[in-house]
Amino acid sequence: MNTLNDVVIIEIPNVHEERGKLSVIEKDIFPFEMKRVYYLYDVPSDAYRGGHAHKKQHSLVLALSGSFNVIVDDGNSRKRIMLNKPHIGLYIPTGIWREIENFSSGSVCLVLASTEYEEEEYIRDYNEFKLSKTT
Ligand code: TYD
Repeated sequence: MNTLNDVVIIEIPNVHEERGKLSVIEKDIFPFEMKRVYYLYDVPSDAYRGGHAHKKQHSLVLALSGSFNVIVDDGNSRKRIMLNKPHIGLYIPTGIWREIENFSSGSVCLVLASTEYEEEEYIRDYNEFKLSKTT
């Protein structure tokens, strides 16, 4: 059963030149095989995104532009992590509740996901999530 200890920051290798920076996300730098990429943009600053856990999906979440806060919760404790650098990803395994809030203007939240979209593998009810951590 995953806990907050399994939620980790992953640094994406980058090439830093006078001409700018280039980051490369290759399969070996995160612990799952990627099946899907999605991104959130034009998000109002007071919007609440996430609010779910996954039974199957592992994710890597990045602030490609701007910043936002990711709240992760393992049913016992929760913590808030600010993402604001395009080369810093947050790995969230299965069984972790996540919420995303406080989007800065123009921010882009990129998510690399290990599964195709499948609504049945979402847990969108917090009480159901809590229950899933005790059974
Ligand atoms: P939702 O999971 O609520 O987004 P977030 O967790 O970022 O708040 O998804 C919003 C809508 O988009 C919802 O109707 C499901 C749909 N959706 C897809 O069709 N495919 C996808 O890959 C994702 C992530 C969402």
